[in-house]
Amino acid sequence: MTDELLKQEPKILIPEVRLQARVAEIAQEINHDFRGREIVAVCVLKGSFIFFTDLIRHLDMPLSCEFLGVSSYPNRKVTSGEVKLTLDVGDVLENKHVIVFEDVVDSGLTLSFIMNTLRARKPASLKSCSLLVKTESLQTDVEVDYTGFKIGKEFVVGYGIDYAGKFRGLPYVGYLENSH
Ligand code: IMP
Ligand code: MG
Repeated sequence: MTDELLKQEPKILIPEVRLQARVAEIAQEINHDFRGREIVAVCVLKGSFIFFTDLIRHLDMPLSCEFLGVSSYPNRKVTSGEVKLTLDVGDVLENKHVIVFEDVVDSGLTLSFIMNTLRARKPASLKSCSLLVKTESLQTDVEVDYTGFKIGKEFVVGYGIDYAGKFRGLPYVGYLENSH
């Protein structure tokens, strides 16, 4: 592997205890907003898988889990602006309350694509939740209904989030230096 970034130990941006506390808080907001309703929780693979599994364990309502695969810029740190559906949800979403869980909203193109794709399935309601939102990088007016943390433009890894497929297993969110 020639990539210097892969040899770095990421600097801690959000420590594990803060992540866990915020994840529980977001879940309480969702419990409050969706009390008495059943939801379809959609995990956007791969980056959201740890966030998703931690968060749904705090939810009180009956739920089903769906997994959606998108690929925007494999192994690259800049967006190509091109989003592809690589795995579709298996269930019918019509008349269901759907919440999409994403890891990072950067330009917003990926989430915007996902929301448009799922809106076409005529859910009863459709909300979005992202662990991280890079507020200075947003290029779309996509709405994030539940935000974990607003961050700057740093390239983040850990807690499910990768760089070139690596770093997903870190229990914290870190950043790679000189990465933008
Ligand atoms: P967007 O389409 O520009 O909003 O990019 C969102 C997607 O790019 C996310 O689903 C992430 O998978 C990926 N991404 C954006 N920023 C980062 C980052 O800092 N680290 C790792 N992946 C990122
Ligand atoms: Mg992602």
